[in-house]
Amino acid sequence: MGHVIAIDGPAGAGKSTIARGLAEKLGYIYIDSGAMYRAVAMWALSMDIAVDDPVKMEQLALAAEIEMLPGRRILLNGEDVSDRIRTAEIASAASRVAALGPVRRALVAKQREIGEKNNVVMEGRDIGTVVFPAARVKIFLDADPVERVRRRAAEQPDIAPGELATQIADRDRRDRQRAESPLVQAPDAVYLDSTALTAEQVEEEILKLVRARISNGKGAL
Ligand code: DC
Repeated sequence: MGHVIAIDGPAGAGKSTIARGLAEKLGYIYIDSGAMYRAVAMWALSMDIAVDDPVKMEQLALAAEIEMLPGRRILLNGEDVSDRIRTAEIASAASRVAALGPVRRALVAKQREIGEKNNVVMEGRDIGTVVFPAARVKIFLDADPVERVRRRAAEQPDIAPGELATQIADRDRRDRQRAESPLVQAPDAVYLDSTALTAEQVEEEILKLVRARISNGKGAL
């Protein structure tokens, strides 16, 4: 098994920026597990399949061929869907799809397969609790809700901030309250609040933990 750095937390906490930066610095593979839920949700919507139908959604999740490529590119069944999965509609559908146990089991298996063979920085909601409970470094990355909406608004200027705030609150509530692998801090995860920190400062905090807990065999990281 490779080394795993698990970064969990709510939407807009800075997980993607931090996870990508760390992966680059460490030479690890960056995996955005949320993109997998988004890809399966997108596939369902494109075929008019109800995203809360557990039987059909399990079939889709098992059949989905998902490839994660460098540069935050993701292929679904050979097709590049990197940009198409980034809409508000897909974010909300992904959160509903992610509440289904059978879908989670299918995608967790794919995530574990990647972590078995590689050193990874993986971000999501259940990476430290369920996917890799033995991860060497586990971070629960959080930020003030107002700041999280502000960050998302900068990424999605076409959506009114009020609307975005509602969408994020709904999604967080669903992700935290679902029965299957809810968003929760692992008991052994380090809580980091990124509200008043720059990405560099957050990265540096995590790198300290990495240096303390992972030896790369060459001495320095
Ligand atoms: O990180 P994101 O916003 O792209 O994730 C989209 C949705 O997928 C999110 O609302 C919850 C779900 N998700 C999950 O349940 N477990 C993960 N490991 C990653 C994402």
